[in-house]
Amino acid sequence: MAVLLSTGPAAMAAWRDALLALDPALDIRLFPEAGDPAGIEAAVVWTSHDMAELRRYPNLRLIVSMGAGVDHLLRPPGPPPGVPVARLVDARLTQGMTEWVLLNVLRFHRQDPEYRALQAARRWEELPAPDTAARRIGILGLGELGGAAARALLPLGFPVMGWSRGPKQVPGVETFHGPAGLEAMLPRADILICLLPLTPETRGVLNARTLSLLPRGAFLLNAARGGHLVQEDLLAALESGQVAGAALDVFEPEPLPPDHPFWTHPKVVMTPHAASITIPESAAPQVIENLRRVRQGAPLINLVDFARGY
Ligand code: NAP
Ligand code: GLV
Repeated sequence: MAVLLSTGPAAMAAWRDALLALDPALDIRLFPEAGDPAGIEAAVVWTSHDMAELRRYPNLRLIVSMGAGVDHLLRPPGPPPGVPVARLVDARLTQGMTEWVLLNVLRFHRQDPEYRALQAARRWEELPAPDTAARRIGILGLGELGGAAARALLPLGFPVMGWSRGPKQVPGVETFHGPAGLEAMLPRADILICLLPLTPETRGVLNARTLSLLPRGAFLLNAARGGHLVQEDLLAALESGQVAGAALDVFEPEPLPPDHPFWTHPKVVMTPHAASITIPESAAPQVIENLRRVRQGAPLINLVDFARGY
């Protein structure tokens, strides 16, 4: 039985090499060269793969996302009925996101856009000293990535708050949950960081109303999914000064069209969905482990809950 990989050619080759390094006996097929559809038992796929296509494989027993997010796998028509989906929980993926968060929190906290503008104008001017203890950070999503971001920000001295679906305890973090918790946290978040999964409940969570609840002049970081943000609402909030700056890694659609105003917006810093990129060598062991478990009928790791949507 074979494992089907599906993503861009270079990443597919890297995944193949990483999996074969762990299990040289694996039969690996690179999409679209799937061979006999009846021979495919697992599919390791990224966002470009059409879920309807996976219905061609009658013996498929496992689908794995090549990333932490699974919204691309769950949107209609969704995975073939009865086939479990696992996602990646990976230390290097988490580390990459933590670095992106720290980079952008410190960028805004330390007034880097203002200092770059002063440098460009050859102006020697000191801005008021930033006060770390007074810069309150709110994190939407306290899972693998949000939790790690909180743990990295706390020792720097930032007061950290976090919002999750259910109640949660994270040492040193003031936690909130549910719709009422969001309303309570937003007015205190000087920097808001979105690290939520994209589900029907979280789509559009960053909108005119939620942005208006932030303290005036707050900063926004979104490295979750483009669908969390109503892009026109952010543009309006930047224009009015309600939001002072945004660091955006994810967009809808991707790639962002070349004429979109974010590209040249003076208050927007962009990265092309590169906040944290999966490293196949790091992530491959959990795919091998899930393959072993599915063959033995054992419970899978990092299993996605279809009802929750993440
Ligand atoms: P995770 O471990 O599943 O954590 C998700 C968190 O979001 C949990 O705390 C969960 O609450 C919370 N949540 C979910 N639905 C909610 C709702 N309706 N209201 C309030 N909180 C809600 O996910 P993760 O591994 O941290 O990844 C988060 C997302 O980051 C991924 O889904 C992916 O889209 C994105 N990502 C982006 C990049 C990039 O490069 N840009 C890289 C990796 C991942 P509970 O704790 O109560 O369950
Ligand atoms: C990247 O966006 C991921 O979900 O891992």
